[in-house]
Amino acid sequence: MEQAVKDLGTLEGPALVFGGPYSNLQATQALLARADQLGISPSRIICTGDVVAYCADPEATVSLIRRSEMAVVMGNCEESLGFGTDDCGCGFSEGSACDLLSVQWFAYARNHLSAAAKQWMRDLPRALSFRMADRRFRVVHGSVASINRFVFASTPLSEKEAEFELGDADAIIGGHCGLPFTQVIGDRLWHNAGVIGMPANDGTPRVWFALLTPEGSDVRIETHSLQYDYGTAAEAMAAAGLPAAYAKTLGDGLWPNLDILPETETAATGRPLSETTIVWHGNETGRSTMPRPAPEPVSESAYLRATK
Ligand SMILES: [Fe+2]
Repeated sequence: MEQAVKDLGTLEGPALVFGGPYSNLQATQALLARADQLGISPSRIICTGDVVAYCADPEATVSLIRRSEMAVVMGNCEESLGFGTDDCGCGFSEGSACDLLSVQWFAYARNHLSAAAKQWMRDLPRALSFRMADRRFRVVHGSVASINRFVFASTPLSEKEAEFELGDADAIIGGHCGLPFTQVIGDRLWHNAGVIGMPANDGTPRVWFALLTPEGSDVRIETHSLQYDYGTAAEAMAAAGLPAAYAKTLGDGLWPNLDILPETETAATGRPLSETTIVWHGNETGRSTMPRPAPEPVSESAYLRATK
């Protein structure tokens, strides 16, 4: 049975968070190997959804994730494939480049998934909760209000504050938008670990995950890049007849189109991201960390004016 919110209890040690495997088997294998190197057990690994999307190995990627027994929140792709709707449910504008490309990978994924995999998708929780350093975390795919809402670093703080109230949480971990960022808003936190199935539109083939570590009453949030065998993943896409545009993205790190991106994130296209570390002490105001160099210093007050 589908669960609305699955509680993971209190996480005492580091947690590894990632999103968007996107049927990319090679990236998923690399992520699990990294977790093993870091000594992080599956009980502290969290996936923010969209296990299946653009790449060539939907069934094998689902199997690998299921076997690992990590916690997974339902993405819009799981919702659409699990319940048998006609498109990926990303919310792309009709006729847009994203919309046209998604028709191709969605049909491929639907035809290459077993009934058992679709049943697993239907049974996924729509949100996860856990406690770390006495803070209440809520994990969702898009936002608390909507599974397919795109929430970026540049999304107004006021909109994020409304989501905290809705989720009754000190911290929200979201996925869906494909870009990693960490943002302290007052005494609360919004975090997106990024995705492992596609690069972050930064002109490199690297993909992204995060580590959350309790340190007394603080939480350290690190974004990490991951390198993997993207050549094999791209070859598998070509062999499967999937759109060449996304296979190319695996290597050059540039999204085939920027339809979903706000102005701020569009301007950062092709600029390599940096790994970041932020310690969340609480009671801070408006400090935002996007894992990319800022074009010019922006004062805290200017940032708040621009985003409120
Ligand atoms: Fe999504």
